[in-house]
Amino acid sequence: MGPGPATYRTARAGKGGLPPGPRLPRAAQTLLFRTVGHRLTPRLRGRYGDMVRLRLFPEGAVVQLTDAEHIRAVLNGPDTVYHGGEGNAIVEPVLGARSVMLADELDHRRARRLLTPAFRAAALDGYRGMVARLTAEELDRWPAGVPFRAHDRMNRLTLEVVLRVVFGVTRGARLDRLRTLLRAFVDVRPVDFLGWHLPALQRVGRWRRKLAQQRELDALIHEVIRERRDAGEAGAGGTDVLSRLLGSSDEDGGLSDAELRDQLVSLLLAGHETTATALAWSLHELAWSAPLQARAARAAATGDDAFLEAVVKESLRLHPVIAEIARRVTEDVELGEYRIPAGTTVMPMIGQVHLDARYHQAPRVFDPGRFLEGPPPRETWLPFGGGARYCLGAGFALMESAVVLREVLTRFRLEPGRAGREEERARHVVLVPGHGAVVRALPRTGDPHGEAVS
Ligand code: HEM
Repeated sequence: MGPGPATYRTARAGKGGLPPGPRLPRAAQTLLFRTVGHRLTPRLRGRYGDMVRLRLFPEGAVVQLTDAEHIRAVLNGPDTVYHGGEGNAIVEPVLGARSVMLADELDHRRARRLLTPAFRAAALDGYRGMVARLTAEELDRWPAGVPFRAHDRMNRLTLEVVLRVVFGVTRGARLDRLRTLLRAFVDVRPVDFLGWHLPALQRVGRWRRKLAQQRELDALIHEVIRERRDAGEAGAGGTDVLSRLLGSSDEDGGLSDAELRDQLVSLLLAGHETTATALAWSLHELAWSAPLQARAARAAATGDDAFLEAVVKESLRLHPVIAEIARRVTEDVELGEYRIPAGTTVMPMIGQVHLDARYHQAPRVFDPGRFLEGPPPRETWLPFGGGARYCLGAGFALMESAVVLREVLTRFRLEPGRAGREEERARHVVLVPGHGAVVRALPRTGDPHGEAVS
């Protein structure tokens, strides 16, 4: 839904309606926000304050939020008023309308109820060994002493992990093709968003190729679902998410094939590049700080997962993979001194809050120690969002990341692979290290505390 003229009139009225914001045309704001939004947000905040109004395609009127109190009110507000599913409408053409990420209210609660058990702690513990094994296989292929893009390697690894979690068995020609398609699928550029929402474009060029890939991916997933259903009990008996979903039902019955497809694609996409990016940033930070890396290597050698997890959490603070989340309000809401009209999308700006000296001491300094004395207040550390839509895979991602770091640091010492620290670059909805987190990995000599062989 786009904003009608009345919305703009309210916006110009200033206080009481929508907050102020830039006057650029909507197309220009959209392009800037999707490509360099992470750099513009601090400037906009400096100019307009903690609430800034933007006009974006396809959302319409958007209000960026950078005050933790406003963010708390939004994330803890009723799910009937703050629609996260509608807020994510931009990805509907890819994830499908029934995705947990696109659903709201009753449909959303149902999807969470069916999906959550697969991510409970007991299930997570069962996956530790699998993550360690796949990481070891990946590390066998790392070149010694030669610079390489750690982000690519992490993407390959986390794709394998999430395929295992979602489908269990991952061998066979069909899953090989699925892998290839998923890799192509996450290669989303800002222009692709246009193709998703303007069907006329889907008949030409890159948009047409993307659509064909998506159709093939869907067909493959439907084949896998059908095969599992045909296998009956045997197909639903495993611990993987698909087995659990096939075996689960509530008062509304089990999940249909179409629902299953949307949830599976959502999990594969939500769980793959996010975790890879968090890991890439962690490796980047460790490569750039020898004392911190030595401390982390000791933690790896002594099984101190709490410290390794703190490294990932601090990485997610300094370099949040997802810089903002969205909720569309279904009725007028009061936030600060404004009355935000129904239909507006409010956006808690995670990246901005994480770097705000009001909430974090010396916010630009990478210091995992801040997470060792207990978590910061929820509304000031938000890499996994919050409220009823808190990331379903957060616990899994932290466990997976700590295991991967442990394996890496036991085998290698890392050094920066290029001059200069890397800046954030927007890659569809995630902020990735601008050069792919280039590092050099030097095999350790057997003593994980000691020197590496150069
Ligand atoms: C470091 C890695 C990850 C990060 C930074 C991350 C971040 C996020 C964020 C910011 C949200 C939006 C929450 C909100 O709107 O309040 C989200 C939602 C979600 N994430 Fe993650 N995520 C990660 C890993 C995973 C993994 C491994 C999975 C599953 C395999 C996963 C599955 C989901 C799902 C299903 C949702 C939708 C929840 C809902 O709408 O109810 N995520 N994640």
